[in-house]
Parts: sequence; C-alpha cells; structure tokens
Amino acid sequence: MSYSDTIVVILAAGKGTRLKSGVAKVLHRAGGRSLVEHVIRACQPLAARGTIVVAGYQADPVRVVAESLGAATVLQEPLKGTGHALLAVREAIPPGVTRVLVVPGDAPLIRSETLAALLNAHEASGAVAAVLTAHLDNATGYGRIVRGSDRDVEAIVEEKTATPGQRAICEVNSSIYSFNLHGLWQAVERIRPNNFHGEIYLTDAVALLREHGNRVVAVCSDDAQEVLGCNTRAELADLDRIFRHRKAAALMDAGVTLYLPETSFIDADVEAGMDTVIQPGVQLLGRTRIGERCTIGAGCVLMDADIADDVEIKPHSLVFNSRLGSGTGVGPFAHIRDGAELRPGARVGNFVEVKKSIVGEGTKAMHLTYIGDATIGAGTNIGAGTITCNYDGARKNPTTIGDRVFIGSGTELVAPVSVGSGAYVAAGSTITENVPADSLAIARSRQVNKDGWATFRARFLKDSAAPATADPANGNTTDTKNPRQLRRGKGKTSAK
Ligand code: UD1
Ligand code: MG
Repeated sequence: MSYSDTIVVILAAGKGTRLKSGVAKVLHRAGGRSLVEHVIRACQPLAARGTIVVAGYQADPVRVVAESLGAATVLQEPLKGTGHALLAVREAIPPGVTRVLVVPGDAPLIRSETLAALLNAHEASGAVAAVLTAHLDNATGYGRIVRGSDRDVEAIVEEKTATPGQRAICEVNSSIYSFNLHGLWQAVERIRPNNFHGEIYLTDAVALLREHGNRVVAVCSDDAQEVLGCNTRAELADLDRIFRHRKAAALMDAGVTLYLPETSFIDADVEAGMDTVIQPGVQLLGRTRIGERCTIGAGCVLMDADIADDVEIKPHSLVFNSRLGSGTGVGPFAHIRDGAELRPGARVGNFVEVKKSIVGEGTKAMHLTYIGDATIGAGTNIGAGTITCNYDGARKNPTTIGDRVFIGSGTELVAPVSVGSGAYVAAGSTITENVPADSLAIARSRQVNKDGWATFRARFLKDSAAPATADPANGNTTDTKNPRQLRRGKGKTSAK
C-alpha cells in the first residue's frame, strides 16, 4: 500500500461532551490504547504522504500521542465542528497532495485494509469524494446516508435534523471520507452553521459538492463494527470489549491457550508465546511479553512484565515492570514490582513481595517475605518471614546477599547490610552488621528455660480455684488473673 498523493487528517479536537469527562474523548482508552492512538496506527500502513492530527481540547497531551507516532498536529481554535476542524489543516497540506483521507479520532476499530479499500474505490469511481458507510441495526446518533436514484450520496443528514423517514435509514456515516482536494475547500467554506449548536458540520460538504454537479459515492463496509464511534461511556465499554475479544482471538490463533477467554483482559501490545496457558480472570497490561510454555494463574495481573519461557505464575500474583527469567516460579499471592528481576530457576512463593531487587539463579524465597532493594546471589535460601528492612524513614538502603546463603526463618536484615556467600543466618535473627562469607550469624536473645514451671502453674491454678479460662499462661489481660497481676500479688482478686 502506498498513497503518496494522499494526506491523512485525523479529527481529534473535540471535547467529547457526552462522555461527561475532564479528559478529552480521544485520550480515553479502549483495548489498552487511547482512541486516537488506535486511529493513527490504523492509518500508518497506508504509507500516505503524511498524517495530520487536528488537536483542540487538551491539545498538549493529544500532541504528545500524535508526535510519538510520527504524526504532525495542527490546532483548531475555537472548536466549531467537524467541517471547521478540516479547515484548520488547509495551510498545513504539503504541495503535490491531491487527496485527503479524513478519519475521526473516535473510531478506533477501523482497520487499515478498510481505509485502503475506501481509497481504491474512490479512485475507481472517478467521484470527487467517497464516504465509508455501514448498515447498523441501531443507527441512533449517527448521520444517515441519503442516496439518490443513481445510488450516489445525495446528502448526509444528522439525526437531530433528520425527518422520520430519514431516521429510518440504517446506512450510517462513519465520518471517514476520501476527498479530492480540488474543489473541497470551496465546498467546506460554504457550509453554514445551520444546526442546533452553531457548528460547521463536515457532513454538509456532501450536499454542497453534489449541488455543483460533483459525484460523491458511498463505500459500504462489510464489517459494521469497524465504523463504530465512541460518544458515550457505554460505547467506550462496547469498544473495549470488542478489542479484548479481538486480542484474545489473536493470541489463540498464535497458539496460546485461554480458558474462559471472555474473562481475560489483555491490552493490544501484549505478546505471548506458543503453549502458554492463561487461566480465567487474568489481566495482561501494557507492554507485557510472555514466552512459551508459561502458565499464568487465575486472577494474576501483569503490567509491563517481561516473562521468559517455562515460567509458572500461580494464582492471584501481581508482576509490575519486572522480569522473570526462564523456569522461574511465582506465587500464589506474590507481588513482584518496580524493576525486580528473578534470574532463571528462582522461585518466590506465597505472600512474598519483591521490589527493585535481583533474586539470583535458583534462589528461593517461598513464604511470607519482603525483599526490597536487595541483590541476592545464586542458590540461596531465604526462610519464611524474612524481611529486608530497607527504609530508615528517609532513605531506601540496599541489602546484599551472596551465593549459597541460608537465611533462617523470621530474620530481619537491617539495611544497609550484606551477608557473604556461603554464610548462615540463624532463624529469628535481627542482622544489623555485615555477615562475613562462610560464617554463622546468630543475632537474637538467648532462650531461658524455667525448669518445672508447668508443675508450678498447675499447683497455682488449683490453689487459686480459678476457672480454667483464667489460666495465668493464656495472656488474657481482660481477666483479673492474668500473669502480670499474679506477679503483683493480685491473683486472688475475685473475677466478676
Ligand atoms: C460524526 C458525524 C456523523 C457520523 C459520526 C460517526 C458530523 C457532524 N457528524 O458525528 O454523521 O455518523 O461522526 O461516528 O460530522 N471534532 C473536532 N473538532 C470539532 C468537533 C469534533 O476535531 O470541532 C472531532 C472529534 O474530536 C471527533 C470527531 O471530530 O473525534 C467526530 O466528532 P463527534 O463529535 O464525535 O461527531 P459525532 O457526533 O459522532
Ligand atoms: Mg463521534
């Protein structure tokens, strides 16, 4: 495809009043991309002479999206309708361009092939303009296509001004047009703001062209979905659903298993390899890439995650902006975030959080652990309930743990601190100083055993005739016979 005589104009200046939003309509997202991004991307394969996005309401963020995709922008000010928006590009059209393809920024489902078909049909017809149309069961809100006896387009009538007979027409205007530039500006300049909102409607250009003896043809799309616009939140939800459905279908075509695909929520840019299995209720967002033969458990959320091959992520785990090397295992209920990396074969189990840390090859942290700002070597075991105490109230401090280290359960590593390779840390330790390689660190108070204490307690209970529930060993502080009171000699106060 190459249409070097054609310039693409994307109308994206409107506020989108019917969305009732503080965000410009074309910046709302469906299928993981903004509406205008979908439209710009659909136009790119045409290899047209250029793409100009007309920005107006919240022009700056719209410009950022447009420019990131190589499109130019012009400003429409004030916002006086779709015809007025097209006039805004007049001076920006480069010499040598003979045709303009107009696409609204709120029709994100349009495909490149359909745009090309419109351009080709326009050329073949010899008409001055061609309009992409579709037959909708429910045409409410769309402009209706009024055809003449010659089947050419006589006029496009907006719903508000349509007669009952015209409203019964189910062929609608997609707002996607191919116009020859010759004669276009004269026609658009003649459009009068003769409607309710005082706006200049591009749709009126059709009747004006026709009045001057020009032909305008309709090209009817086979797939009515493609022309769907987005004026309300309900329509936004419908578009999003269609994108998710399309994406799930594309992944299945590529050899990915999705169970209950209608429950998964997958953004447009996500990739997944062959024989990966995605269980129900999974969200795959942003630029997430998943390798082959992975399993993504039910309820997982992955955003900008880079997952190598043969990874198992058990249910209800979150992976944000992090990398899981091949053969790693995560979850259930794990949280991996902020640039964390699990090297091949590492495993992070249930209720483990890993933030901005490297977990070395084959290293395991299987239960109830927080690893933050840490670098952990290979073949290390992190016991249950280990915590890197990385934050001192002002700064985040690093923890370094070497290879083949054994960190006993319930250890607190008060950063900055390091544990050398081959070292052991005894369970329950609070490590505040560096641990040399191959050593054993024990940092906990010594245990005291009170010989015969249980016999003493039994005798005490009998003497005090206390009810069983007032056992002095049970720590029940609401009871008058708790151990502190016993120590203070108040054990015989009667319970109420
Ligand atoms: C428009 C068409 C309607 C068609 C429908 C298809 C007109 C008058 N009506 O209606 O026939 O069936 O699209 O979806 O054109 N915009 C600007 N500047 C403005 C106003 C709008 O750039 O001053 C942009 C909007 O940001 C939007 C696009 O033009 O991306 C279409 O505008 P919108 O208000 O959505 O028109 P519809 O009422 O949907
Ligand atoms: Mg619209």
